[in-house]
Amino acid sequence: MTRHFLRDDDLSPEQQAGVLELALKLKASPYDERPLAGPRTVAVLFDKPTLRTQASFASGIAELGGFPMIIDGSLAQVGVRESIADTARVLGRQASAVVWRTHEQSRLAEMAAYAGVPVVNALTDQFHPCQALADLLTIREHRGTLAGQTLAFVGDPACNMGHSLLLAGVTAGMHVRVSGPADYHPDPDVLARAQELARLTDGSAGFEADPVEAVSGADVVVTDTWISMGREAEAEARAQAFAPWQLNDALLAHAASDAIAMHCLPAYRGKEITAEVLEGPRSVVWDEAENRRHVQKAVLVWLLSGGPS
Ligand code: NVA
Repeated sequence: MTRHFLRDDDLSPEQQAGVLELALKLKASPYDERPLAGPRTVAVLFDKPTLRTQASFASGIAELGGFPMIIDGSLAQVGVRESIADTARVLGRQASAVVWRTHEQSRLAEMAAYAGVPVVNALTDQFHPCQALADLLTIREHRGTLAGQTLAFVGDPACNMGHSLLLAGVTAGMHVRVSGPADYHPDPDVLARAQELARLTDGSAGFEADPVEAVSGADVVVTDTWISMGREAEAEARAQAFAPWQLNDALLAHAASDAIAMHCLPAYRGKEITAEVLEGPRSVVWDEAENRRHVQKAVLVWLLSGGPS
C-alpha cells in the first residue's frame, strides 16, 4: 500500500523516531541516500505562498538524486480547471511522489486517494507536519532529548502549527501546552487525538488559557504568525486578540532558564514575537529553517523505500 505523510500522526512513535534518526544521519552525510537517482521526479505544488518549503524541498530532492518539478498552483488551478482526482492521476504518471501546499486537508486526502504515489503535506490550513518534524529535530539537537520535554506554543493554537505540534510533540513523548484566546481553541478532535496518543507515549497535551501558566517552566517556547495565510482579512481583530500572547522577554522569563525559543517563520517582529527574542541567544529559528531539508529528505526516503518501519 502506498504510504503518505498527510498529518503528523501518520508516523507512529517508532516511525517518527526512525525518520528523525535518519534526518540526523543525512544532516551529517547529505548524499548517503539516493532513492531518487535517475533523476526521478517529485512534483511540488503550491496553492499558497512559499519560501522555505520550496527551497528546502528543491534542495533536498536534488540531494536525494532527484528532480523537483515545481508547479505554480495559480497556473494549475487544481480543483478549478481540473478536478483534484484528475490532477492526481496525471501527476502520478509523471512523478515518484507529490508534495502539495494547499488549503483544506480534504484536498490533500483526495490527492492521496488518486495519485498512486506517495503524497506529502507541505502545509494545509489544519496541519504543517514537515515543520513540526523540523522543530522536533531542532529540539533534539538543542535539548538532547524529546521525551519528557515541555513545549509551550503561544499564539493561535487553532492554526496548522498549533495542531501539528500537539500531534508530533506527544508522538515524541513531549508535554505540549498550547495557549491562546478562548475563541482560538485548537480543533477538539485534534486535541483529543493528541491526548489519546499521549497515553501511549507518557506525554501530555492540553489547552492553557493563561500564557504565563503555559510558559512556566517550559523547555521550549514556540510561536507562529497570528495571521496564517488565508486569514489576512482578520488581521486587525487578531492583532488585538493575540497581543497578550506575544513572545517577548517578559513572557520568556517564565520558561526554564535554558529554554529555547522557536518560530517556523516568516516572523513579524513586534507582533507575535519581538526582535529581541527572535534575534536573541535563545532563538533557534535558523536551525529550524535548515532542518526542514533534512527531515523532508528522511520523510521521502521513508515513503519511497517502505522503511524505516
Ligand atoms: N501558520 C502559518 C505557517 C507558515 C509557515 C500559516 O499557515 O501561514
